[in-house]
Amino acid sequence: MNQPPKFDEKTARRVEDVYSSVDEEDQRNFVMNALGASPGERIIDIGSGPGYVLRDIAGAVGPAGRAVGVDPSEAMIDLARKRCADLKQVALSEGDALALPADEGEFDAAVITQVYEYVADIAAALSELRRVLRPGGRAVILDTDWDSLVWSARDGERAARILKAWDSHLADPHLPRTLSARLRGAGFEVERRDVFPFLNAEYDPECYSCRMLNIIVPFVIRYGDLPKQEVKAWAGELEELGREGKYFFSLNRYLFVCRNPAEA
Ligand SMILES: C[S@@+](CC[C@H](N)C(=O)[O-])C[C@H]1O[C@@H](n2cnc3c(N)ncnc32)[C@H](O)[C@@H]1O
Repeated sequence: MNQPPKFDEKTARRVEDVYSSVDEEDQRNFVMNALGASPGERIIDIGSGPGYVLRDIAGAVGPAGRAVGVDPSEAMIDLARKRCADLKQVALSEGDALALPADEGEFDAAVITQVYEYVADIAAALSELRRVLRPGGRAVILDTDWDSLVWSARDGERAARILKAWDSHLADPHLPRTLSARLRGAGFEVERRDVFPFLNAEYDPECYSCRMLNIIVPFVIRYGDLPKQEVKAWAGELEELGREGKYFFSLNRYLFVCRNPAEA
């Protein structure tokens, strides 16, 4: 059964730590390039989390634009508010992808990174996205397909058990493979599909995958129905592989750029 994580204060801080990694920074640059934001634009960041993307958006639209962050987690809103405190063009509010606190056609563009994979009713989320975009407005969406994961392990069966339990943190751990069709079904024009690969070829405590252990381990211990020692032993094995120069991690994120058709 799927068990979305509660983005309480502790988890929000762990996500903030992961998202400060160089891997995530490179991904944000990839997303911002795809967005191509201009000064003066009004852009919504749905599921804005700790606010790193929101800050980048605010920089791109400048003081004449608007960067609006929406997230259901109070802890995430607090982190984003602190991160963007010096930027007057930023506004933040608690809200859900299924019921955005925004008017019809209010935005030129939307960014939704690592969020729709948590949402069970994608058709409803896309219909809500169309509602808040102006005719001709665009959206940049990015999600992970966890089947693209390559992670070194000595005990492959144990790793598979743990990663199967981890899959349940998302409503759909394989969303990207069906997203083009769902976007078209919702009335969007799909303009671009692309892939952003993570590659950690060494065990570096600063890298994405090593930082992610601080989220995966407690989640699987809490919800995975596996002995705590087994989960800890898996994480210990990864560190050991690192010491031996045998560590390897790779994971793909998939990017979609789509457009709300212009009015005829
Ligand atoms: C992995 S974080 C990604 C944060 C941010 N988009 C980024 O890429 O830096 C996922 C975020 O999605 C938010 N989220 C989860 N379910 C959501 C929903 N139904 N509507 C909007 N945001 C949601 C969470 O609160 C969390 O902040």
